[in-house]
Amino acid sequence: MTTSNRRNEQLYVDVVGARIPKLGLGTWELQGQACQGAVRTAIDAGYRHVDTAQMYGNEADVGAALRAVGVARDQLFVTTKIAPDNLSPRRVRETARESLKRLALDYVDLMLIHWPSQEIPLSDTLGAMLELQDDGLVAHLGVSNFTPKLLEEATRHAAIVANQVEYHPYLAQNDLRSIARVTKTALTAYSPLAQGMVHDDETLVGMGRKHGKSPEQVTLRWFMQQTEVVAIPRSSSPDHIRANFDIFDFELSADDMNEISKLDKKMRLIDPSLAPEWGAQPSKDAMQWQLHKPAPGTVAETPSRHTGKSISI
Ligand SMILES: NC(=O)c1ccc[n+]([C@@H]2O[C@H](COP(=O)([O-])OP(=O)(O)OC[C@H]3O[C@@H](n4cnc5c(N)ncnc54)[C@H](OP(=O)(O)O)[C@@H]3O)[C@@H](O)[C@H]2O)c1
Repeated sequence: MTTSNRRNEQLYVDVVGARIPKLGLGTWELQGQACQGAVRTAIDAGYRHVDTAQMYGNEADVGAALRAVGVARDQLFVTTKIAPDNLSPRRVRETARESLKRLALDYVDLMLIHWPSQEIPLSDTLGAMLELQDDGLVAHLGVSNFTPKLLEEATRHAAIVANQVEYHPYLAQNDLRSIARVTKTALTAYSPLAQGMVHDDETLVGMGRKHGKSPEQVTLRWFMQQTEVVAIPRSSSPDHIRANFDIFDFELSADDMNEISKLDKKMRLIDPSLAPEWGAQPSKDAMQWQLHKPAPGTVAETPSRHTGKSISI
């Protein structure tokens, strides 16, 4: 696994045949014109990696925006995810094709299992995904919300290039990072800005001042300097989308990197009832966040395991 390191340019993680741009655009909760506008702004700003999912209800918007920007297909890295209800082999085959139709693409670069299933054997789901790969509909396979144990199991059935999990300065993922290095899998950080919470963090604000950058830019740079890590911040604001990409012209020192790592407080923000056993209790801060977060606007909602409040996933 290597990371190229030229300044002022997008960085990549190279894992078993996949070249994944280290910074991508998240699109959860973005739909319609908001989603199309965000994707177009991002591509114009230099992003080449876009993350969507069957559950986000926005694959058609992502596809429309990608068509509108007219960047060559082989320059783009498009990820989508198979929803929890679609993990039987038959549904994988059917719904992957439906996703491609909505995206108006011949193939996606990365197809993930969105959440591990407690009912459908992993080997069945991955078996069907391998067929999609053989048919040229999917370039690479991956998983999301997999624990180290589940990730190891997945790698026994297929070449897994990425595990997409919640990861930000307040939720360390040391075990998953170690296992990613062993299994040669990229670790894609979702909710990398802790859904906006990094904005008021004194440490990150102070560090940003030193570099002439915002706390969000410092946070995203921290991910860029972790070899096996990819980050997919979401924003609906053109200014934020552009600012989040303006992180390839400065470097954090080893001390800065360590200081950010010390912000960990085991704060898991996304913990729906269908989640696997993570092996740790959520922090009080995370429960407060789930209780007070504004109501989500997307299609898929499920009760939080800890608060019972409906959360979107
Ligand atoms: N696999 C999974 O189960 C899973 C779960 C959750 C998320 N994801 C993926 O990960 C992506 C990112 O995670 P997320 O959407 O939860 O949260 P996030 O990217 O950590 O945070 C998004 C929030 O940060 C704000 N923001 C972004 N850039 C900013 C900036 N430069 N300055 C100030 N505020 C800024 C956004 O507000 P504005 O819109 O105002 O900029 C938005 O409220 C998702 O969109 C999705 O693609 C995957």
